[in-house]
Amino acid sequence: MKVTVAIDGPAAAGKSTVAKKVAEIKGYTYIDTGAMYRAFTWYCLEKGVDCQNEEQCVALIPEVTIKLRPGGTVLCNDHDITREIREPRVSGNVSYIASYKDIRLFLVEQQRKMAGKHSVIMDGRDIGTYVLPDADVKIFQIASVETRAIRRYDENISKGIPCTLEEIEEDVRKRDYIDSHRDFAPLKAAPDSILLDTSFLNVDEVVAAVIEIIDRKIKEKEEKESA
Ligand code: DC
Repeated sequence: MKVTVAIDGPAAAGKSTVAKKVAEIKGYTYIDTGAMYRAFTWYCLEKGVDCQNEEQCVALIPEVTIKLRPGGTVLCNDHDITREIREPRVSGNVSYIASYKDIRLFLVEQQRKMAGKHSVIMDGRDIGTYVLPDADVKIFQIASVETRAIRRYDENISKGIPCTLEEIEEDVRKRDYIDSHRDFAPLKAAPDSILLDTSFLNVDEVVAAVIEIIDRKIKEKEEKESA
């Protein structure tokens, strides 16, 4: 049976770490939609375009091709930018890019195509509300701002990306605000999503909780279909 799982939630709530592991265990394709907004942001910065200038950013759409490779490699116009998209200059600008409707429509079309083919677990901000409103499983993953900032700081340091905890916490707060206040497809929990607070859970505990939710929802779906 083809299964679609949507995991939404604020910045640095651990969605991608968990989604990657769940994908591996369940044999699903993992789609990191945030990486696509980050790749577009990287391209704007490379071109010297001001990320707060919507018109100039949107004008770049025809020149941008973004590919997500299995294993997490991110390509923009065939350049491997997997590491660059995690740098603070990209994190600090990505919420502006993600607030532009034309850029969202451009990327959402590709996300829907990717989800059409296989069983997928897709993480982002608007997956359950907008990209895949009929997803079989919808999870809204949250954690306190402090917990999220520490997690993202540790992740960056382990990848050799220089940053300070204060800078990360400020970035997380700023992105929470912009992501949840934009007009088009803002960050919000779908009414039929399951809220998962990971503030006091480690990665393995969150993975186990997500798998338990998926298995339960699929069983319910199978029972409904055979009734
Ligand atoms: O998950 P992330 O931190 O890599 O996401 C980067 C930014 O992209 C985030 O600030 C919000 C935006 N985003 C979005 O608006 N919609 C998505 N589906 C995924 C990410």
